[in-house]
Amino acid sequence: MVKTFQTISGIRQCIELWRHSGERIAFVPTMGNLHEGHLTLVREAKQHADRVVVSIFVNPTQFGVNEDFANYPRTEAEDCQKLTDEGCDAVFLPSVDTLYSPHAKTTVHVEGVSDYFCGASRRGHFSGVATVVSKLLNIIEPHSAFFGLKDFQQFVIIQTLVRDLNFPIDIIGVPTVREHDGLAMSSRNGYLTAAERKVAPQIYNTLQLARDQLRHSSYSFEEVEKQSIATLAQHGFVIDYFTIARRADLAFAGVDDHDLIILVAATLGKTRLIDNLWLDKSITPRCQNN
Ligand code: PAF
Repeated sequence: MVKTFQTISGIRQCIELWRHSGERIAFVPTMGNLHEGHLTLVREAKQHADRVVVSIFVNPTQFGVNEDFANYPRTEAEDCQKLTDEGCDAVFLPSVDTLYSPHAKTTVHVEGVSDYFCGASRRGHFSGVATVVSKLLNIIEPHSAFFGLKDFQQFVIIQTLVRDLNFPIDIIGVPTVREHDGLAMSSRNGYLTAAERKVAPQIYNTLQLARDQLRHSSYSFEEVEKQSIATLAQHGFVIDYFTIARRADLAFAGVDDHDLIILVAATLGKTRLIDNLWLDKSITPRCQNN
């Protein structure tokens, strides 16, 4: 069975021995309830390093007051079995008290990109993510860390904080893993009812349709966004945003931008789903006002 550590000193001692013998360390932070998407991160991490460390920590500071912190699925025993099967080397399982001192005065906030899209509807969420990821990177001190690209805004925020705080760590994004019908894998998919689960892949279908419209028609960004929002609403989604943005910094895309991404967040029943699709460089869409 994979080695597990609850304390900061325990995981540090273990990693220090590996680092001392010249081994490279890869890190995969998670909130547990591991699915194929997480295991893909672990497999990718194994390609880059001699040792793979995974953390499982349901981080209270990234949940809003009306969000699902208390009910978030906690499946540690199954998770550790899956990580053992994948050949993971160590699992860090801190308690909330271990990671957060009641006297703490410091949080990490990445300005700008944390404040729009998911950051606008989930106030404080990305400060919670940025703070816990900074703490975990500081504890584990890996050579590289792996994040899923489904949470693309989170990925951009983590890249930014690692650059700004001079962490000597490679941040590697791993493409989204999908179910057979295109639904992006997520721990939250388990909240969908059977009827909602059938409708949920429409989010990916709508992203693909939007990409095709941008490739093969003369619709403006604004027209594509409006049509996509209407399509999702017809299927019963309540849309938070459906937007075309610049991939580098998630600023709104203009006519001269080529590295683009379509981002969506929408709620189906009680479940908030996010997804995205990259647009290739060859697209030269009209700007919003054309
Ligand atoms: O993406 C997640 O699972 C979480 O936001 C992370 C990065 C583990 C921080 O709690």
